[in-house]
Amino acid sequence: MTSINNVDIVFGLSWGDEGKGKIIGQLAKSGNYDWVCRWNGGSNAGHTIYVNGEKFHTHIIPSGVLFGVKSFIGPDCYLNIDDFRSELNYLKHHGFDTSLIKVSPMTHIISQEQKAEDANNPRSTGKGIGPCARDKYARSGHRFAEMCPEDLRCHLFTGQLSGDLLCEGAQGCWLDINYGNYPFVTSSSTMPYGACSIGFSPCKIRTIYGAAKAYDTRVGFDPEFEDMWQPDAEKLEEIAQVGKEFGVTTGRGRRVAWLNYNKLVDAINLSGTNIVIISKVDILVIVDKFQIKKDGCFINYKSLEDYKQNLGDMLFEDCKLVKKIVYSDHPEIVNLD
Ligand code: IMP
Repeated sequence: MTSINNVDIVFGLSWGDEGKGKIIGQLAKSGNYDWVCRWNGGSNAGHTIYVNGEKFHTHIIPSGVLFGVKSFIGPDCYLNIDDFRSELNYLKHHGFDTSLIKVSPMTHIISQEQKAEDANNPRSTGKGIGPCARDKYARSGHRFAEMCPEDLRCHLFTGQLSGDLLCEGAQGCWLDINYGNYPFVTSSSTMPYGACSIGFSPCKIRTIYGAAKAYDTRVGFDPEFEDMWQPDAEKLEEIAQVGKEFGVTTGRGRRVAWLNYNKLVDAINLSGTNIVIISKVDILVIVDKFQIKKDGCFINYKSLEDYKQNLGDMLFEDCKLVKKIVYSDHPEIVNLD
């Protein structure tokens, strides 16, 4: 019998890099959760979290630990032992209690060979995610229980998760192994359905928070993103600069496009998102252009107020499960109340 109570999920509505870390941080420090859990990905992900004004980067370790909350790496994640150890050291060095971090015995380990095989793959972050997933599904992989080095034994989870869980997504909807533009995807389920791999029934899910950005970005090649004609290219370039659109994990520049409304609606409806958080609206204010793409046409709004009003009206009309839309214009703070 499981004693998991309620589950809230934060995930990305586009191609990753939507500012999930900020939302997770805000929720994790509320004191409402017993565990913060990662269900997908590995060190290919990169979250930026501010704690008391100081900026931290995590890749595989869930953000709960930054706020004193127990943190769990689930069975559908991919773990590289060296990357995990260096992230533990980074957190320890900054005074965080790393004993809160637990790894499922079923989590698959990325070997050095798998990482080396992926290192020069232009379609990946080079962290070995694809080869590790391949071997997992070929049933020739190795799991944490079997491979756990002595010094990391204290992180091997035994027992059962209980209480209220916050699930922290990595990447985004359109990088999902099933629903993304295959093969230009990652090797895990980035959407809320994947979170159930943590070990709870879908009926435990209470609220799904979907993170979006006021414009779209993409790291890594994807012809769907590449081939789109975009007006006002110099404004998009300005957005990339002002919005500091460089990958946390790879340092690569992210390509920028005007927000694709139809894809956003699909992502919201496919995932059952209840609360939509649209970040970086301040960047649109700085470049002074409030444009979206809808049904193949570009719509340009006069002001941020106009943009919010129209976008909000359309989203409430097209996405019946959405209860709230939050706009964020600050890298550290998002008001979810
Ligand atoms: P992989 O997950 O390293 O195999 O990379 C597959 C694709 O997903 C590539 O296009 C990556 O650039 C992209 N990707 C993987 N993780 C992230 C992420 O956390 N943010 C944005 N893109 C990602």
